[in-house]
Amino acid sequence: MSCYITTPIYYVNAQPHLGHAYTTIVADTYSRFRRLCGETVRFQTGTDEHGDKIAEAAGKEQVSPTEFVDRISGLYRASWPLLSIEADNFIRTTDAAHIAAVQRILQQVYDQGDIYFGEYSGLYCKGCERFLTEKELVDGKCPDHRVAPEAITEQNYFFRMSKYQQQLIDHIQAHPDFISPVRYKNEVLSFLSEPLEDLCISRPTTRLTWGISLPFDDRFVTYVWFDALINYLTGIGYQAGDSGESAESFGQYWAVAEHVIAKDILKPHAIYWPTMLLALGLPLYHRLLVHGFWNVGEVKMSKSIGNVVRPADLVAAYGVDTVRYFLLREMSFGLDASFSSDAILARHNADLANDLGNLFSRSLSMLEKYSKGILPAGGEATEADQHLQQTATQMLSHYQENMGRFQFHRALQGIWELISQANKYIVTSEPWVLAKDPAQQSRLHTVLYNLGECLRLLVLVLRPVMPQASAKMATALGLSVNDPQIADFRHGARWGLSVAGTQLQKTDALFPRMDTAMSGNDVGNTLTTAPQKNMASTEDSREPKKKAKVVGSQGRVAESGVIEFSQFQQLDLRVAEVVRAERIAKSDRLLKLTVTAPEERTIVAGIAEYYTPEELPGRLVLIVANLKPVELMGVQSQGMVLAAHTLIKGKKRLVLTTVSGPAPVGSKVA
Ligand code: MSP
Repeated sequence: MSCYITTPIYYVNAQPHLGHAYTTIVADTYSRFRRLCGETVRFQTGTDEHGDKIAEAAGKEQVSPTEFVDRISGLYRASWPLLSIEADNFIRTTDAAHIAAVQRILQQVYDQGDIYFGEYSGLYCKGCERFLTEKELVDGKCPDHRVAPEAITEQNYFFRMSKYQQQLIDHIQAHPDFISPVRYKNEVLSFLSEPLEDLCISRPTTRLTWGISLPFDDRFVTYVWFDALINYLTGIGYQAGDSGESAESFGQYWAVAEHVIAKDILKPHAIYWPTMLLALGLPLYHRLLVHGFWNVGEVKMSKSIGNVVRPADLVAAYGVDTVRYFLLREMSFGLDASFSSDAILARHNADLANDLGNLFSRSLSMLEKYSKGILPAGGEATEADQHLQQTATQMLSHYQENMGRFQFHRALQGIWELISQANKYIVTSEPWVLAKDPAQQSRLHTVLYNLGECLRLLVLVLRPVMPQASAKMATALGLSVNDPQIADFRHGARWGLSVAGTQLQKTDALFPRMDTAMSGNDVGNTLTTAPQKNMASTEDSREPKKKAKVVGSQGRVAESGVIEFSQFQQLDLRVAEVVRAERIAKSDRLLKLTVTAPEERTIVAGIAEYYTPEELPGRLVLIVANLKPVELMGVQSQGMVLAAHTLIKGKKRLVLTTVSGPAPVGSKVA
């Protein structure tokens, strides 16, 4: 079996935030799950780089669209590894192969008479990059972007979307899983119960030039959605020329295509896209999986509102596995969820440090103490053992079903039932009592084996969700990551495959408990960036407060000047690249640096006497990334660049620190 899973391609008018990260983590988790099931998987993400709002954003920065999209697309690409996201393909709509294929498709649809020239008046929302109907507006405004759309009348080219309306309705009704969860399928059917209008697929170059030229009329560029949706085909080689290999991979993957999106882009994916595919004579995608919004308080997290959480900040504060677990556990796929620092901290401490972390460390320390760190052989099963085994077996089938249906929170709930059952099993079996009585040795060994077996099954099922923690657990259990017991669900999802005699390995805590120094904050969220002025906010809430810190750090430097390791760990040191450097008016000492680490930030550095702005772009430097932002000479400084203070020929000099070999921006320094 093959699997082809995609995320939306993200607009490059802004940097990635938690909403983008969520969709991409979902697709990554699903692709890892299908790989675990032995399937051939292709996972694609990428960036959407044409259209009005990108051109506008580049204009604001006074750089060319090409320079601008290269930079922001690079930030997206660099963000994903920090979240343990491993895509097979990162597509950009400015790729030459994509552009050529879009033009071939346009020509085909035009030649067959499904594109015509006409005039249109409508209400256009730039944020959505589409015309909205009166019905979609709330108080005359776009509900997602909260701005009134612009009335536009123009001569343009139109795609005969209406021609395919009935065929689409029939397809949705005949394929119950085509759009899920079911509420979104119903929403689409309700929309389709009214006559569809044709889709305007061009923009005159008098208004917009940043787009793909229409092959049959170069006075127009292609409407950004018509261009963007086609990425799902071009990314697997559709219309890529004569390469036999591309045609083969296209056939293999297109038949099983699954698109993950949030509800904001339901209409383009559930209506424009399938009608375009019908016009092309291609089979429709297999499934569209639609999730809700991450909100802060009641408000959707979005760049235009300004209440965004940066994934790299979360990873620095909580660790990548906690972030992935939290997002998948907290959101019921399809419904909205609310982000707050308190919620993520609570999940970290309760589910990961207490439940999973304790089960892991207690079991391993008893195996060490009572069995010299070797997995003993199990004996005859008591009722309690059978109960544990049944819980594990039920969990495995429940897990497989729910992961396949994108019900990640349910799959995780099921896993945590086993964890809780195993923790209770320790309490009721009392291995510490058994260990005192040599006559009970066989019983003790059975209990220890069963605990080891629970941990192995946990490694297997947690791999797609928490790749790093499960790899660490596997090593502690004496397993290698490619061992079929934990690398192949078809083989490993059975009770009793752990091998007695396996040498276990000592390891440190999986998820150390975290404390928080946060104090009462209105939205319960210290990691969002400042809301814009038009949103309710106080000056206070603009200042990021302290993040979570590891318990046990003493919070002050001892008299000896020596600090605890945990105090050092609170520093988030990273490799960053300088993308721009500018002088700050009225300051001889300060330079304003724009760096990526991999997200973009501004840092004011006191190095103007030693470096010119021209010599800095492109340099790799080391920064402190979690320093409380301050304003210096009217410029927000979000961190600090590290430099050595030296004397050269008796004169003071600052020398910037860097890394001695290639290291991707954002790499942690420790
Ligand atoms: N470029 C189009 C998509 C074209 S796909 C052929 C686009 N880009 S976007 O940058 O605006 O990304 C929208 C997607 O980002 C959402 O559908 C969702 O996957 C993700 N999210 C952005 N904000 C989000 C939340 N607040 N919550 C959840 N997901 C969010 O639309």
